[in-house]
Order: sequence, then C-alpha cells, then structure tokens
Amino acid sequence: MEKVLVILAHPQYEKSIANKWIIDALKNSINTIEVRNIHELYPDYSINIAAEQKALINADHVIFQFPFYWYNMPAILKQWFDQVFSFNFAYGPEGNKLANKSFQISITIGGPVQSYTTLGYNHFRIEEFVKPLEQTAYLTQMNWQPPMYTHGMVYIEGIYNTAGLVQNRAEEYAQRLIERVKSWSNGDPKTIIDDFVSNWFAQFDELADDSFFTNHLDEKVKLKFPDGVFKGHEGFKAWYDNIKSTIKKENKHTITSIDIKDNNNGFYKVKLSLKLEAETLEGQPLLINVIEKWKVSISDEKLIKIHQYKVKKT
Ligand SMILES: Cc1cc2nc3c(=O)[nH]c(=O)nc-3n(C[C@H](O)[C@H](O)[C@H](O)COP(=O)(O)O)c2cc1C
Repeated sequence: MEKVLVILAHPQYEKSIANKWIIDALKNSINTIEVRNIHELYPDYSINIAAEQKALINADHVIFQFPFYWYNMPAILKQWFDQVFSFNFAYGPEGNKLANKSFQISITIGGPVQSYTTLGYNHFRIEEFVKPLEQTAYLTQMNWQPPMYTHGMVYIEGIYNTAGLVQNRAEEYAQRLIERVKSWSNGDPKTIIDDFVSNWFAQFDELADDSFFTNHLDEKVKLKFPDGVFKGHEGFKAWYDNIKSTIKKENKHTITSIDIKDNNNGFYKVKLSLKLEAETLEGQPLLINVIEKWKVSISDEKLIKIHQYKVKKT
C-alpha cells in the first residue's frame, strides 16, 4: 500500500473522544501510515516547514483530520497551510511537489446532519463550507477526494450526547474512512507485504503500543525467537514486555533483503535478512543480524495477518 500521511489538527487532543478514536483505528488498520499531530508538535504555532514538506513529499495520500471549529479548520491547520504550502513548493512555476497526491479531508462535526441543510440552523452543507480547501487541492494539483465527515460528535456531559454514543459513531466512521484509504491501494500483494514489513519494523524502532502488533498477529500465531517459543497474543506480549525492559526506544532495523513467495493456498512466505542496532537501557550498544521467516495472509480489507514468525541469529 502506498504511504498515507495524516495531518492531525486538534488543539485539545487530550480531551478528544472522536478524533482520538479515529486516529487509533487508522493506526491499527493501515500498514503504512504516519500521523503528525501538529498541535502537539507546534504548540507555539512555530511550524517546522522543512519537516512538514519532507513528510508531504514522502506521502502518496494526505488526510487532514480535524474537528470542525466555527465552520472551519482549527487555527493551527490554517497556519500550517499558510506556511507549508509555499511558493514553488505547492504552487508557482516550480510548485508541483504535491501533484497527484490524494487530498482527503476528514472532519468530526458537532452539529447533527439536519442542521447542515438549507432549512437547518447551520444553513449550508459541509461541502459548501470546505470550498477553500477544495480549491487548494486543485491549485496544488492534488487529487481532491470527496470530503468525509461524521456528525453529532460533540459531547458535553449531561447536555449533548453520551461519551459512549460519540465513541460508537467514531468507530463506525473510522471504518468508513479506512475503507476509503484501502480503496486507494493498487492491491498488488507483494507491494502490500513489502510496505507492511517496512512499517512493522518502523513501529518496532519506536517500541510502539502492543495493539499495533497484535492487530497483525493471528490469535494462534507461533513465534519462534532465539530466546524461546511464544504462542498467541499473550505470548507476543510476554516477549515484547521483555524487549521493552531491555532496549531503549529509537533503535534501528535495516532490512537487507526480502523475498516474498505466494504459497498459492492463501498464504505468503516472507524471508527477510535484517540488522538491528539498538542500545540497552544501561547504555550498551547492541548489534544483531537475523534471518526471519514469516507466514502471512492478506484479508479482503488488505490487512496483513502473521501466522508464523521465526527469527534466527546469523
Ligand atoms: C472552538 C470550537 C468550535 C466549534 N465549532 C463547531 C462548529 O462550527 N460546528 C459544529 O458542528 N461543531 C463545532 N464544534 C464542536 C466540535 O466540532 C466537536 O466537539 C468535535 O468535532 C468533537 O471531536 P473530539 O471528540 O475529537 O474533540 C466546536 C467545538 C469547539 C471547541
């Protein structure tokens, strides 16, 4: 699957229900995703333009995820566009760096559906409120995607909705958004596996949450590591807890070779050589070369499941 970049703009993410739910679901379901929480990265609104442009250049598809604020995007996202979509990058004689990338807006909206109609109290449709973004996509030669949004997402205790109701709506919406992202994939199994492998190790480099990994492990997965054999999700967690209490975050896996074979029975065999450079919690450098053999399947939703996972030191 091609690379998906999510520009998340939420000034109060710690209090979010809807956006948080959507982001977690995306991270768990899309193999090759980068989420940039721009309010957390730039609380003082001082945006690292080069870093943002680099992330954009790397991506094939860009999702702008935000809560609707006063019929518009939150101010941090406006600042982001003003600075990052610059002359000769996004527009101008040499400004074609964003050409052909998908431009997907994904908005959580407080008001109910019927309020966003001619006779409703918000009068206009969401598609009308987001016209400036649509034209931004056209000017930058990006591929404008039909807007995605979900209504009734505001939660004020005792007044509007319940947290559970908002969560259920967010869950249902997240699945729709995931479907949209998957519809962009070219569907070639080897590309999907290849992209997945890169993301799998990128997540290990950051020692990401268990849920990313277990989401891609079959419930009965057999894991054979140099330090023992582990079974199922509980087995993975036991092994991973041990890793997390041994090495620091920000380690580096380098894949030196990858071979993918179709077993023609719904499974693929993946053989990898890779190098791990890490540092123990005590500050000792660690360098390990391994060969890994995996047995994986790809679901109709293009989600990878690992059924067997063998690691051998070389
Ligand atoms: C400053 C502010 C402005 C808002 N403006 C609107 C608005 O114009 N229209 C609307 O439907 N909801 C509006 N809302 C409601 C938010 O869109 C809603 O709370 C949010 O999408 C819920 O997502 P979250 O749980 O991730 O925070 C506003 C909320 C805030 C805090």
